[in-house]
Amino acid sequence: MTRKQTDTDRWSRYFAADGSESVMEKRKGFGEEMKVLMINGSPRSNGNTSTALHEMEKIFLQEGIETEIVQIGNQDIRGCIGCGACRKKGKCVFQDVVNETAAKFEACDGLVVGSPVYYASANATLVAFLTRLFYSTPFDKTMKVGASVVAARRGGLSATFDELNKFFTICGMPVASSQYWNSIHGAAPGEAEQDAEGLQTMRTLARNMAFLMKSIALGREKYGLPEKEAVQRTNFVR
Ligand SMILES: Cc1cc2nc3c(=O)[nH]c(=O)nc-3n(C[C@H](O)[C@H](O)[C@H](O)COP(=O)(O)O)c2cc1C
Repeated sequence: MTRKQTDTDRWSRYFAADGSESVMEKRKGFGEEMKVLMINGSPRSNGNTSTALHEMEKIFLQEGIETEIVQIGNQDIRGCIGCGACRKKGKCVFQDVVNETAAKFEACDGLVVGSPVYYASANATLVAFLTRLFYSTPFDKTMKVGASVVAARRGGLSATFDELNKFFTICGMPVASSQYWNSIHGAAPGEAEQDAEGLQTMRTLARNMAFLMKSIALGREKYGLPEKEAVQRTNFVR
């Protein structure tokens, strides 16, 4: 099994014919090939976030799970303008990597989001990307497994970890966990290779995530996805 960096054909079967709409959800049965989409929110494609993601990727490949890494932190990505057009269009009005990644997100069984810590938060480019990606995509994300990993020189790791996990927990995505909060230490690119505990945390996370994804595929076959009620929205103004 090899990692597919740019296997657009494989993913694009989930695009609608005209490329404009999100298609009906396609869920795989147990035993079908699983995929994890990995988002690197660092501007450095070979930095410490990348080290963490690649450590996980080795385990996914051992587990027979296909992966793809999408590099986000080095792209020019604007934030959400709250226009609401995505509710009608089923995609963001800004045609960029957000809409390109949407179909990959829809097709994947698991999503890993990695970020360097910038001022005790995630990289702002990544936050712009995730905000638009999660808000503009109408497909059901329930039971896609999420995991976030963070890299920093010294501080702000668990705050950033919390920030990223909230994208998963607003939309029915179970969060995979490890033996410690999913963080790795290093400043210059490659320094994280020396963080033995951080690397082990990433491997454990990938094993736990693979188990969860496979268990969910089995459970979905046996029990189906949980029933959904019509969403009630109550806005509190005072
Ligand atoms: C703008 C900026 C802000 C940063 N803020 C923090 C911080 O709050 N805490 C910290 O420990 N490291 C901070 N760092 C260091 C990075 O988190 C660290 O170098 C990390 O390994 C970068 O990951 P990468 O190699 O994947 O880009 C900051 C770096 C930059 C460029």
